[in-house]
Amino acid sequence: MKKKALITGMVLVLVSMVVFSSTSVSSKNTASFKYVGVSKCQTCHKTDAQGKQFDIWQNSKHSQAWKTLQTDAADKLAKDKGFSTKAAETPQCIKCHVLGKDIVPDELADSFVKEDGVQCETCHGPGSEYKAMSVMKDRQKAIDNGLIIASDKAQLCITCHNPESPSYKEFKFDEYWDKIKHYKPKN
Ligand code: HEC
Ligand code: HEC
Ligand code: HEC
Ligand code: HEC
Repeated sequence: MKKKALITGMVLVLVSMVVFSSTSVSSKNTASFKYVGVSKCQTCHKTDAQGKQFDIWQNSKHSQAWKTLQTDAADKLAKDKGFSTKAAETPQCIKCHVLGKDIVPDELADSFVKEDGVQCETCHGPGSEYKAMSVMKDRQKAIDNGLIIASDKAQLCITCHNPESPSYKEFKFDEYWDKIKHYKPKN
């Protein structure tokens, strides 16, 4: 009996350590970094010299992801899945069609527009603290302030392009990346 109580006690200590450390990390992030929306990135990322990331995004389906939820076809999919709300009011659909996670109002700046669908910050992290020119120019400083550059691109894509999507089509990384890649031209 005594031994069992000791083991239970140790497990409780471990669990509380894990819970404590993960909440302190996430509360720091939500307090300091907010999603500002694609209009804020557009300012600097639309020129030929920068690589026209804004135009490439706007011409991609990611910019349409919210509008897609407002169609009859989307409402039917939601209904077939057993939801009683329209697709654009169903958090389980909104998740992959905007940020890749639930929308938390505290994490959004006033300039964030969810109707812009899957945006720069969906893949690059909330930009309130890294979008200033002085930070953006310094890659490491930007990363310290919330910028994410996925080291494994395919892994990022399949957080949404997976069979949990009710209209899932086989995800072919090379073909799909080719449609949305947005590199800065090499001089
Ligand atoms: C004030 C201008 C400005 C704004 C606003 C801005 N950027 Fe940038 N961004 C830059 C500059 C300059 C660079 C550096 C480009 C270079 O390497 O020449 C950069 C680089 C980047 C990079 C590449 C980093 C690397 O080194 O690989 C990403 C990703 C990026 N920005 C995303 C964003 C996102 C997302 C937003 C909106 C939240 C945004 N930027 C807003 C100016 C800006
Ligand atoms: C679907 C996810 C996704 C979206 C949406 C997205 N990006 Fe990216 N972006 C990436 C990935 C992944 C890379 C890294 C590419 C690599 O390292 O090969 C990248 C790279 C970049 C780079 C560096 C390019 C270079 O030459 O190194 C910039 C700048 C950038 N993104 C800006 C933006 C801006 C601005 C937007 C919105 C207008 C945006 N991205 C939208 C995933 C995305
Ligand atoms: C936050 C979720 C999310 C992430 C992450 C994401 N996507 Fe998407 N993607 C979507 C949604 C939602 C659509 C459908 C938009 C629509 O049709 O309205 C889509 C559509 C696309 C399409 C258009 C497919 C077609 O039928 O023509 C391409 C291409 C694409 N994504 C590439 C990528 C690539 C490459 C990555 C990773 C670098 C990626 N996506 C990451 C959510 C995501
Ligand atoms: C796991 C992420 C994910 C979830 C959850 C999700 N979607 Fe999507 N949705 C996607 C992606 C990615 C695409 C692009 C097509 C694909 O699945 O490959 C897409 C495409 C669509 C399309 C366009 C289909 C087409 O053939 O052009 C509709 C409509 C849609 N989703 C509605 C919904 C509805 C309604 C829900 C909620 C019941 C939902 N989605 C939940 C990721 C998701």
